[in-house]
Amino acid sequence: MGEGVLRRVATEVGTPVYVYDAGTIRSQYTALRTALAGIPHRLHYSVKANANLAVLRLIRGLGGGADIVSGGELARALRAGFEGRDLVFSGVGKTERELEVALNAEVGLINLESHGEFDVVRRLARGRAAPVAVGLRINPDVTTETHPYTQTGQAGMKFGVPLDQVVALARCVADEPALALTSVGMHIGSQIADGAPYRAGAERLAGVVADLRAAGITTLTSVDVGGGLGISYGRGMGMDPAEFAMAVAPLARVTGLPLLIEPGRFLVGNAGYLLTRVLYHKRSGGREFVITDAGMNDLLRPSLYNAYHDVVVLDGAGGAGDPAGAAEGRLVDVVGPNCESGDFLALDRRLDGAGPGALLAVLGAGAYGFGMSFQYNSRPRAAEVLVDGGRYAVVREREGTDDLMRGETATPSWREA
Ligand code: LLP
Repeated sequence: MGEGVLRRVATEVGTPVYVYDAGTIRSQYTALRTALAGIPHRLHYSVKANANLAVLRLIRGLGGGADIVSGGELARALRAGFEGRDLVFSGVGKTERELEVALNAEVGLINLESHGEFDVVRRLARGRAAPVAVGLRINPDVTTETHPYTQTGQAGMKFGVPLDQVVALARCVADEPALALTSVGMHIGSQIADGAPYRAGAERLAGVVADLRAAGITTLTSVDVGGGLGISYGRGMGMDPAEFAMAVAPLARVTGLPLLIEPGRFLVGNAGYLLTRVLYHKRSGGREFVITDAGMNDLLRPSLYNAYHDVVVLDGAGGAGDPAGAAEGRLVDVVGPNCESGDFLALDRRLDGAGPGALLAVLGAGAYGFGMSFQYNSRPRAAEVLVDGGRYAVVREREGTDDLMRGETATPSWREA
């Protein structure tokens, strides 16, 4: 996608705005499928990475299924055209209501994460015409070199069934005629750039499959290796899909079962740009600030994980010597408009031309960008735009002040308490 499109969208739709490139999503999808070509597998896109309906529809059109973690994501997936059977329902805290809706939608696989959840699903499944397909997400106790907040596969974390409890829980599922144990799986973390933790986790999963078979459980039809494939954010490497394929291939071979994969970021991360305009420039205490109209409420990753995103100047303004302009050749912090010192998009960057009025693009914003945005400081959420070849479409309108106050009232109708 050319920079001209980004400039045009910024002018016509305004900023802040998220822009997604359909071509990049397609090529990432193809790259991954090609790397996995020799391995029986099904791809379930992890909706949480970017849940926009048009993005979901695009991925569905490519032939993918979806990985959902809430009733809201279920509703989105169905609205985008996925069938229940295309869906894997993951997540550590599904409510009874969400599970009931999922059963009614005949979701293809529900990954259980605890004994308590098994109890709820068993109760809901009884009396239904066909057994409900469930899987067990295990905690394989593997370490990943990623931010602590995006590690999930180590013992002592809230995710998955601990290895020493898996066989007992599997027996409970297998003994229940209303349920069919069709899968075991893992999701070990996010933004993982090397194959080693997948290899380690896959070995644990292969061991679990063997243990379950030894226990007389013969109903498995897939093994779920989760998502987590990393991308390059302009510094550091992403996951080489061939390395990922090599790491998980033995699991399919040894078990004879097809793999489920749940990539999110890998498909959409580098397809997305957050466009923002520079409002002001200032210096204070030896630091130099570029103040933009997008902030942590639009893109939380820098504030929450200290995540690095490349920032580029698309349309410069205010050059060298301009007292109001960003200093040429010096390092600046790109900060948002929110009343929080932790509100920043980028620190210590050289951004020549980033004076007031300049248009900036934050790269790698397609995953966990809009989806983690919020309305703090009563800022309406940004618009979302999909670009496909020479066309673009607004696929989510910019919110307005009515959206900020929807469902609220200044004049309560009191009830007896
Ligand atoms: N499957 C399950 C069960 C998951 O929990 C996740 C992500 C995925 C698949 C997809 O992971 P991916 O391929 O996108 O890495 N907000 C963080 C990332 C949190 C990921 C949560 N789970 C970030 O902005 O880096």
